[in-house]
Amino acid sequence: MSYYELCNEVAEAIQQAVSGLIGKPEAGVTLRIGADGTPTEKIDETAENAALSVLERDGRSMRFVSEELGEKIIGTKPEFTFVLDPIDGTFNAVNNIPFFCVPIAIGDSDLSDIRYGYVKNLVSGDIYTAEKGKGAFLSKRKIHVSSISELSGLSVISYSLRPHAVTINNHKVRRVRVFGCAALELCYIASGIFDAFIDMRSMLRVTDIAASKLIVEEAGGKVTDGQGKRLSTQLDVTKRVNMVASNGMVHDKLLELV
Ligand code: IPD
Ligand code: CA
Repeated sequence: MSYYELCNEVAEAIQQAVSGLIGKPEAGVTLRIGADGTPTEKIDETAENAALSVLERDGRSMRFVSEELGEKIIGTKPEFTFVLDPIDGTFNAVNNIPFFCVPIAIGDSDLSDIRYGYVKNLVSGDIYTAEKGKGAFLSKRKIHVSSISELSGLSVISYSLRPHAVTINNHKVRRVRVFGCAALELCYIASGIFDAFIDMRSMLRVTDIAASKLIVEEAGGKVTDGQGKRLSTQLDVTKRVNMVASNGMVHDKLLELV
């Protein structure tokens, strides 16, 4: 089974398992604090369990890194690390706001060694994929970042928190939007709908961004931390990063503003 088939099977199992929970108050009941340090809601656990059953049936040995359970070794000699956020955009899913997804990345031990990325929009069914060195795709169509190079023309997704609110939110750019599902928002940078994504809250987890980071890079974009350094951190759900992702042309200008 290819990485694509495995990811697809996991995403489909999740989609089926959570279908009766979207927009339902019980989906948002907090069960416990997950391994990543944030609440695990019923919909998150349902999604993670569905994924785990697919992976345990797969037969390959792997290290499973997932937002709620943290880490689980499946089999005895892991061939790769399977990084999953069972649902990215939980608040949206629980409240029937149609913008949430399943992001999956395959790598070894660090965010910088991800070799396969997969993101499925659970509302539209759109699937974004990237394999290192082979480009990024929306379904079978190759995607590319935008080519806007003037700050005043940019459409930006920007998360920031006081006291570090970034000046971008004072509308130096054309538009600022926040949709609440980082993995999918990053795919909008990869496909050229938005020009940049900024998150300076020190809250992003590897499960939120591992897949989409590769998708943005393979679509021709640039991804760094807030200082312009290559993003690198262990594939561990307790780690947090800041992120600036862009079409590359405006990256340095954006770094000056964050
Ligand atoms: C959330 C989304 C959102 C980001 C939050 C995350 P979750 O993930 O990625 O875009 O702003 O920080 O918690 O909790 O829905 O998996
Ligand atoms: Ca999640």
